[in-house]
Amino acid sequence: MSDSTTRRILVTSALPYANGPIHIGHLVEYIQTDIWVRFQKLRGHECYYLCADDAHGTPIMLRAEQDGLTPEQLIERVWHEHRTDFADFLIEFDNYYSTHSPENRHYAELIYRRLNEAGHISRRVITQAYDPEKQMFLPDRFIKGECPRCGAPDQYGDSCENCGATYSPTDLKNPRSVISGATPITKESLHFFFKLGDFETMLKQWIVSGPIQSRMANKLDEWFSAGLQEWDISRDAPYWGFEIPDAPGKYFYVWLDAPIGYMASFQNYCDRTGLDFNDFWKEDSTAEVHHFIGKDIAYFHILFWPAELTGAGFRKPTAVNCHGFLTVDGQKMSKSRGTFIKARTYLQHLRPEYLRYYFATKLSDGIDDLDLNFEDFMQRVNSDLVGKLVNIASRSAGFITRRFNGRLADTLAEPALYADFVAAGDSIAQAYEGREFGRAMREIMALADRANQYIDEKKPWVLAKQLDTAPEVQAVCGMGLNLFRVLMLYLKPVLPGVAVEVEHFLQIPPLRWNDLPKPLLGHAIAEFKPLMQRIEQAQIAAMIEDSKENYPTTDGAAVSAPRPLLADDPIAPTITIEEFAKIDLRVARIVTAEAVTGADKLVRLELDLGGETRQVFAGIKSAYAPEDLQGRLTVVAANLAPRKMRFGLSEGMILAAGDGNGIYLLAPDSGAEPGMRVK
Ligand code: 2FM
Ligand code: ZN
Repeated sequence: MSDSTTRRILVTSALPYANGPIHIGHLVEYIQTDIWVRFQKLRGHECYYLCADDAHGTPIMLRAEQDGLTPEQLIERVWHEHRTDFADFLIEFDNYYSTHSPENRHYAELIYRRLNEAGHISRRVITQAYDPEKQMFLPDRFIKGECPRCGAPDQYGDSCENCGATYSPTDLKNPRSVISGATPITKESLHFFFKLGDFETMLKQWIVSGPIQSRMANKLDEWFSAGLQEWDISRDAPYWGFEIPDAPGKYFYVWLDAPIGYMASFQNYCDRTGLDFNDFWKEDSTAEVHHFIGKDIAYFHILFWPAELTGAGFRKPTAVNCHGFLTVDGQKMSKSRGTFIKARTYLQHLRPEYLRYYFATKLSDGIDDLDLNFEDFMQRVNSDLVGKLVNIASRSAGFITRRFNGRLADTLAEPALYADFVAAGDSIAQAYEGREFGRAMREIMALADRANQYIDEKKPWVLAKQLDTAPEVQAVCGMGLNLFRVLMLYLKPVLPGVAVEVEHFLQIPPLRWNDLPKPLLGHAIAEFKPLMQRIEQAQIAAMIEDSKENYPTTDGAAVSAPRPLLADDPIAPTITIEEFAKIDLRVARIVTAEAVTGADKLVRLELDLGGETRQVFAGIKSAYAPEDLQGRLTVVAANLAPRKMRFGLSEGMILAAGDGNGIYLLAPDSGAEPGMRVK
């Protein structure tokens, strides 16, 4: 049933930047976290959900300037917008704060001072691009020019969108500052660095306690192998953020004080409520701290953050839960296609709970991307929520109201069926706890099918027409409504608004997990009112149309909410030619390719490496049908340690390009033979 001991849990979602609106890409994370938090509260745990706006950094400074506002005015306005959007999506924070706050300044300074005193901060002069007109150092994204490799114009200072080359801004041809148009010069400046390498042993031990998903643990191993670099935590004035103590003109880089914003938001909450901050953050705290984030910002949360906390004498997170990105109809969100949908635009057309439910059906504990397919969205909501769930109540309630004055029967018609529904709660709770929301929804809907079957078999509408059947009608409909109540309890974390309406309808106090074993007997209910309408195609079409109107300058450019996992790793460490030479890259021919039963993304490949055959499992099924792969040449990392997977041994890794959405298998030019070394 319910957990026997009460846990103390602090939960966070990533802090959204205070320079733009919340859109449906963001909402995956906030909905995921909110469902998890609501589930914990429903189970009776002491759980707090904290968030804040991420209010510092160059883009916010420049955006404010562009809008003719001070940064304070901009972040104040956006904070209100974000809060309203979240609240209207039924995302219920215990505290929603800002990183531009006295509490955050306090903890940023405290952590910095402690790290500094313990010798974890170094200082050295570096050379960077500088805008001589605007008189500021330029982040890579604020420099544009021609790609040094392919010559494409208008490319950013770190990578080329045309040919994929990565480089440093000084390599760009005809570079210019995006801010002033001036040609950047290079300039030296003293920077402060956090010595991440000091924490390698600690991080390796921490990971063993299981705070991150296995795929992220693999990623972490890669980062360890590449070597942990020092992290540049300072920026020069003009910068919008907190000045570093005893370092005039030097500011904390936004990513230094952003996660500290989790603590600041909690401190602010403690000051309002009397909770003890240290109970949750002291080094040996037994409370839990769970962070929910997108996989693109894992580096900051599974390396820098636990290291900073440890270095400053605080506890480490219990869990850092990463999720994938949202695609819409299989593609990146796009302003021109109208699929870059703001939270506000969505709300003007559809109920938040439709999206909450749909995301829940798609969410797992993994980091794969999830797709919002509008046809599927409409069909799933209409079929599950309206067709199955609400139908149970609407078919039972009318008879109870009209024939029995709103009173449910005194006994349960089918105690065994009710017991089955209650027993299913353990598995559903386990799924919620493990963030396997898709599984939870499937199990709940399987129960909804059983409830509907029960009503179909008993046919109260037929019974009602016969003589002397009143007790039976009352018993069947009471049974139906009791099953409906259990389903609503299970769905309450996902559909909190509907749950409140149902609590009014059933005239019961707020549902709690512990209520499961006690059916409603001899109890008076209110009149039933329709709980949810079907989604109509026209509503979706209008929302898409409005989303196009939101961006009148549609330029055809796909704008992606998600950022790619690999390309966006904040540090792509330099490696030596000797390190590179350690990778044995070989040309391979795909001899056999087949789907793997039980794995949506995997293809099993047999590769010919010039006389030697290898089995490799590759996550490329979303992009390639197995039959299209047979006979193709590709490149394999041949000396990768074999990995035991659930489906067999994987003896290498084939290479593919990807941006978090598409997957493109690498292939050698014609003439290459299996087994050839790739250098
Ligand atoms: O990537 C982002 O949108 C950041 N604003 C997230 C910050 S999360 C936390 F570290 F504050
Ligand atoms: Zn290029």
